[in-house]
Amino acid sequence: MQTIFDTIKKVAIKIDDAIKTEDLGYSDSSNSSGEDQLKLDVKSDYIIEEAFKDVTIVKALVSEEKEGVLKLHEDGKYTVCYDPLDGSSLADVNLSVGSIFGIYEGELIAENMLASAYVVYGPRVELVIATKGKKPQHYRLQEDLFNLISDITLDERGKLNAPGGTQQNWSDYHKSFIDDLFKEGYRLRYSGGMVPDLHQILLKGGGIFSYPGTSDKPHGKLRQLFEVIPFAFIFEQAGGQGVNDKGVRLTELIPEHPHDTSPCFFGSNYEINAMKNAYGIKQ
Ligand code: AHG
Ligand code: MN
Ligand code: MN
Repeated sequence: MQTIFDTIKKVAIKIDDAIKTEDLGYSDSSNSSGEDQLKLDVKSDYIIEEAFKDVTIVKALVSEEKEGVLKLHEDGKYTVCYDPLDGSSLADVNLSVGSIFGIYEGELIAENMLASAYVVYGPRVELVIATKGKKPQHYRLQEDLFNLISDITLDERGKLNAPGGTQQNWSDYHKSFIDDLFKEGYRLRYSGGMVPDLHQILLKGGGIFSYPGTSDKPHGKLRQLFEVIPFAFIFEQAGGQGVNDKGVRLTELIPEHPHDTSPCFFGSNYEINAMKNAYGIKQ
């Protein structure tokens, strides 16, 4: 498993370099979710694929930017599911973006995830790795090395509210829930990139990020394998929660298709419990 983390560190440095130096325009292709791919999406995906080709413990790769499963090493034990560059359309306005990784042994269902990680490319490059039974670990890139900064622990409640999705298409009860948080004094913190938005909540002690089901996207936008399950794992390890709109733990999801999405809520305990009340979920 350490080899996988070392490979993530290696690709993070290369992707950061590509973000800083390469063409930000659109490629002439689209991904499995029907979204136009940026040249940076394609390049980041290529960097990750090339790096894992040398890692014999990896059986297969599943990418947000590819249709199927890419088989690598027959005798490998692990499958790595990843979003090579989340929030890529924010790079051209110089906002932070990220890469997200989930590492599975066996079938691609949430309970088989052994570890997850994400990288934030911002003013600094930071990495968070979570493994079972341990607090997520926060690293910062300093002179080509990822140095451990600290463990991440969420408080019971925070102050930040990051509400995703198109507001016009929210349900009335979701709107009331979000409004009530603001009435309680929560502050809006939303960049449009889930990696920096969730990183902020994790490092500032807590709050809530939501991307609900909406009238135009009843199953939400964010993808279970590449975005939702890896972050749910990190929030749980940090002492918080990640749930869907039925209050089910996102770490129990069983995706039917690699590109399935799910409504999702990540946060500290107070805010997630408030969401469950607002959605009429028994606790
Ligand atoms: P992508 O990997 O396609 O760049 O996904 C970006 C995600 C996520 O980072 C963000 O929270 C969400 O899309 C925002 O989407 P909308 O602006 O479409 O609501
Ligand atoms: Mn994404
Ligand atoms: Mn992406």
